[in-house]
Amino acid sequence: PYPHYARLRSQGGLYRSSIGIWVATSYQHCHDVLRDRRFGVQAAAGPTPRAFERFMRERETGDVPSFLELDPPEHTRLRKLARPAFGPAKIKGYRALVEKATMDLLDRAQAKGRFDLISDFAGPLPIRVISDLLGIPDANTTRFLHIGQIVGQSLDGVRSVRQFHALRAAETELDQMFRKLVEHKRIEPGDDVITHLTHACDNGEMTIEELLATCGLLLIAGFETTVNLIGNGTLALLDNPAQWAALKENPDLAVGAAEETLRYDPPVQATVRVAHQDLDFAGKPVGRNEPVLVVLGSAGRDPQAFDNPDVFDITRIHERDHLAFSGGIHFCLGAPLARLEGEVALRALAERLPHLASAAPPERRASGIRGLTRFPVTTGRK
Ligand code: HEM
Repeated sequence: PYPHYARLRSQGGLYRSSIGIWVATSYQHCHDVLRDRRFGVQAAAGPTPRAFERFMRERETGDVPSFLELDPPEHTRLRKLARPAFGPAKIKGYRALVEKATMDLLDRAQAKGRFDLISDFAGPLPIRVISDLLGIPDANTTRFLHIGQIVGQSLDGVRSVRQFHALRAAETELDQMFRKLVEHKRIEPGDDVITHLTHACDNGEMTIEELLATCGLLLIAGFETTVNLIGNGTLALLDNPAQWAALKENPDLAVGAAEETLRYDPPVQATVRVAHQDLDFAGKPVGRNEPVLVVLGSAGRDPQAFDNPDVFDITRIHERDHLAFSGGIHFCLGAPLARLEGEVALRALAERLPHLASAAPPERRASGIRGLTRFPVTTGRK
């Protein structure tokens, strides 16, 4: 998509597309829309995709939206309840878990010699981590993974009636599993997110529906994206042998490699905001309830913000933050965890599998979430 983005940026950083929606493509415009409180994620009315999906869902199931889809004050209240799971001390504590899961997966991959980087490594890693963080017992993780994937794939929009029904069934099953876990945590509490949210629920700080929506958000946000950070990062490294060599030489560059991947080829390419009032934004008249597509993937390639933006350079000093985790009040809550997982995974590949090589062209799906579905690789000679 990147050459296309470059063409869009040349039309100005914010323009009105032929179908009438505003599109922000420059770093500055994207950055500013995300931080401008005159925009939100909820539309008072009007056919924005998210509002429409929400309407359908609420009508069908009585589900409530997660805080990703809510504006203050609900957003503030619910985000605060989930935040303790992602504090600096907690994240430090997750390192050992992430390293252990990484090593286990690579042991198995190494034994096979040829493996699929996505289904054997980049996919299972975040699942294990998020399951542990939520407090999902091991016995349930395979089922969670399966239904989580159905829900995750719907992030790209529901394309058929069949997919719609599969999604309904998956969401219902997910809710039931979370409800059972809540009951279980009341009897056997742990130091995990579901236990903490159950307390909040019992104290009247959130409703059970809000708890379910929060757990669903963490589950989906936790793996549909991180898998692609690891996949996109590995692909960029193998496509740029000098960078791969530099990482093998100095595995501490893994921090920079994860960060550079987020700028160069981010898993979440775009998000949407809605104007809450008629407003003048960067000299353009944006009407109340009009959606603005914020193209995060384009912001990272804007030459006004990054030198040689089309060059993948893991030693790049990021003078400004990329927007891969969005910005403003919806800035990704899991960013520290995602960074940790990306770093540990890329470091481990460089240290443990120095002869890693592509075995067949990777496959990708065309969608809003950018990533590979298959990436056959070999561990090469020992
Ligand atoms: C929000 C990206 C990993 C939890 C977001 C948003 C983006 C994003 C772009 C904001 C969307 C918007 O502004 O409309 C990513 C990427 C990840 C990642 C690229 C991995 C590389 C994670 C992980 C978790 C997580 C591991 C948790 C386990 C969340 C939550 C929100 C969020 C809870 C909602 C924040 C809010 O609305 O206040 N993420 N994410 N994310 N992310 Fe992530």
